[in-house]
Amino acid sequence: MNDFKEQIAAELVAVRNRSLAYTDTEDDLLVRQHSPLMSPLVWDLAHVGNYEELWVLREAGGITPLRPEMDDLYDAFKHPRKNRPSLPILGPDEARRYIEGVRGRALDVLDTIDLHGPDPLHRDGFVFGLVIQHEHQHDETMLATLQLSKEPGLVRDGVLPPGRATGDEEVFVPAGSFLMGTDVQPWAYDNERPAYRVHLPGYWIDRFPVGNDAYAAFVEDGGYDDPHWWAPEGWLWRQESHASAPLFWTREGGTWWRTRFGRPEPVPMEEPVQHVCWYEADAYARWAGRRLPTEAEWEKACGWDAATGRSRTYPWGDDGPRPDLANLGHRAARPAPLGAFPAGASPYGAEQMIGDVWEWTDSVFLPYPGFRSFPYREYSEVFFGKDYRVLRGGSWAADPAAVRTTFRNWDHPIRRQIFSGFRCARSASPEEV
Ligand SMILES: [Fe+2]
Repeated sequence: MNDFKEQIAAELVAVRNRSLAYTDTEDDLLVRQHSPLMSPLVWDLAHVGNYEELWVLREAGGITPLRPEMDDLYDAFKHPRKNRPSLPILGPDEARRYIEGVRGRALDVLDTIDLHGPDPLHRDGFVFGLVIQHEHQHDETMLATLQLSKEPGLVRDGVLPPGRATGDEEVFVPAGSFLMGTDVQPWAYDNERPAYRVHLPGYWIDRFPVGNDAYAAFVEDGGYDDPHWWAPEGWLWRQESHASAPLFWTREGGTWWRTRFGRPEPVPMEEPVQHVCWYEADAYARWAGRRLPTEAEWEKACGWDAATGRSRTYPWGDDGPRPDLANLGHRAARPAPLGAFPAGASPYGAEQMIGDVWEWTDSVFLPYPGFRSFPYREYSEVFFGKDYRVLRGGSWAADPAAVRTTFRNWDHPIRRQIFSGFRCARSASPEEV
């Protein structure tokens, strides 16, 4: 195998080790449904193998189905999450054997495939990028399931750099056009393509994500009781859900506590807020006299380098993430404190755009002009429309392989079990422009 193939093989090993680590527990925990929002963990485990079989073995490798009956069971579109426990899915041992069998053949395909040929599925290892990113995305979903399970001791924690004192700092992005999306990232999904020019008036965006301290001030100011701050649908959600603080927060003896992977702890006020839905982010922004950034504003502040007239892969440049630049890949089971990564700042000075928490934007999930679905409609196209809001930047649980300036995530505005936070923005006044 050449170097690039070795690199792909190493990524395949790394993501599989991650999936196996999250499912290295008693069978009962793997087959149980911990929340109607989530699949049993054992469904995710076999599903990533089935996806690899469909794309690497069959589409790229021309190999006949190993277990054709698997396709229906692990088709995310046929079976909503709440119904998955009642399906005759594979048990934990069977699932591990199935995905191992698929993986062995996938490595054979990698050995023989021409990564520089004309087929866009093969070129630059796109099909392997597809399954590696997909499995990492399911690993992040598994972490959300483990958080909901309230079982202690299943998720590894770790050490992160300290933060620094931060105020209500914002950075200015002057009026001008930039290139949104990409034509050059080899593993970019269809929804990130093609690149196109967008003109934005001048605006301010927060240097950091909104912290727990600032969010607690909104809660303590009665933010959840005043419909004035909420969008009409947001206020309906607020009334129906009876939410009064971020998910997993409770108030005891004048202190905010949270339960993180089964363990209660005081809410660290210096961390970015997480587990808020879009409606909560939107209400906070209004209370703070601000608004959520649009997706274009977020992306320009993250990666646009006006000096070179091109977009960086990450805020700090094109080299991959390092521990002093961003909190990604589950180094610890939480976001890093605000100000922990000054070296990871974007050209405009925004920090922690990548990693820590997914950031809600104001934008609904729509195709870019000239969009073409690839390699299948169900990846992005069927989700376009007003039902989903876009999140950007990746969380502490996202892997570097599945995060970049142009990467788009999307979810329903009521979702808060995901590792989601936000930062605010505002349009520049005429004097500021
Ligand atoms: Fe999937």
